[in-house]
Amino acid sequence: MEARSSIPAGCAQEILESAKNASDKGLSQYETPLSLAKILRTPLPKWIEVVCDLTAGHGQLAGGVADGATKDLLLCEIQRVQNVKLENRPLYQSLEWHRITGDVTKVYPLLKEINWQGDCFTLNPPFDLHFHKSNLEQLAHSDMEDIRTAYAADDPRVGRKQIDSTIATILIALDRMTHLGEGFLIGNNSTLERLIFAAKAPYGNLKKYVWLRIILDGNPMTKRDGDAWNEGFQTGIIYFARSHENGPQMTLDRVQNEEDLKNRLRIIPDIRHRLRNGPSVFYAEAASRGSTSTWEAVKAEWDASQRSKRTDYNIWLEEGIITRAALSTCGRAKTKFLSLITSRVDGWLDWVHHYRRGHARYASSMPRPLTMLWPAA
Ligand SMILES: C[S@@+](CC[C@H](N)C(=O)[O-])C[C@H]1O[C@@H](n2cnc3c(N)ncnc32)[C@H](O)[C@@H]1O
Repeated sequence: MEARSSIPAGCAQEILESAKNASDKGLSQYETPLSLAKILRTPLPKWIEVVCDLTAGHGQLAGGVADGATKDLLLCEIQRVQNVKLENRPLYQSLEWHRITGDVTKVYPLLKEINWQGDCFTLNPPFDLHFHKSNLEQLAHSDMEDIRTAYAADDPRVGRKQIDSTIATILIALDRMTHLGEGFLIGNNSTLERLIFAAKAPYGNLKKYVWLRIILDGNPMTKRDGDAWNEGFQTGIIYFARSHENGPQMTLDRVQNEEDLKNRLRIIPDIRHRLRNGPSVFYAEAASRGSTSTWEAVKAEWDASQRSKRTDYNIWLEEGIITRAALSTCGRAKTKFLSLITSRVDGWLDWVHHYRRGHARYASSMPRPLTMLWPAA
């Protein structure tokens, strides 16, 4: 796949808004070769039904990790792009692609609101973009203390109001990970070293969630010098899990090329239980199977919010009868409001006048504000 770092005209506004330095940096659209993605799958659990990539590009990384057991790929990507075509996938192994086209920092609050969680994350975020911290304010309310602390920490390089894209992506993934969940992230090794692994690193409290660390000599994503990785750059790959709190149990350093990586990872499935602490998905049945439908719900809500003409009213009543309802899947997942309305329609229609997005309008006999049932968007 082509490697470039520019801003495509079609989504320039969204991209320029996504990070303070987006106009200088572009998007870092270096994509993971499918062959490398397949090798990086090795340390992950045996059964992976659903893979999520928060900055997915064409889906090379998630698609490369997908194997015979994988049924769904959940992708978020700021640019409107096509899915990569996966060769040699047997027809009987269906694989559904669920793509949200949007800025992950703006999609994240919806994922949080609906309590979407995933079991497996494959991440290769843009390097060194300075995301706006205000979009990720919900990280300050994470149920994990380490995420709250990391969100509050300062990285002098990006300034108080921004957060490095690599760190932001790790925090979003950890926050939205099931207790059995895990994933890996590809980054600039010197960024990972400076921000997480070095003594007094600003996000040093995240180190304990990393169970395996790999350092590649060069950058397999840029493919400069043909397929050689040997340029003056090191790529860092960290495998991390919410339930692993013992820090890196193994570091594979100075990896030279795909063959070297493949050979050195070959042993990991056999010793994984000694490296990766905490509960994980041992059987396909243990996975969080609702994550695809909840992701679709977020997608519907996101798409609706992006339409230039969106409907203000969610329920239309004519003489006490609901004539139209425009409730997004996300809205329905948030509350059982519609079923409440329809199942108790006789009693409720007295006071329900109509529901306006973010505000409830109702007649005075209502027992409690409608907004309690349907919080304002
Ligand atoms: C390094 S590429 C990796 C793509 C894919 N994960 C892979 O490994 O092949 C980073 C991707 O992040 C996307 N991106 C940049 N900023 C983003 C944002 N705020 N939200 C979602 N995607 C973003 C870029 O367009 C680019 O496709």
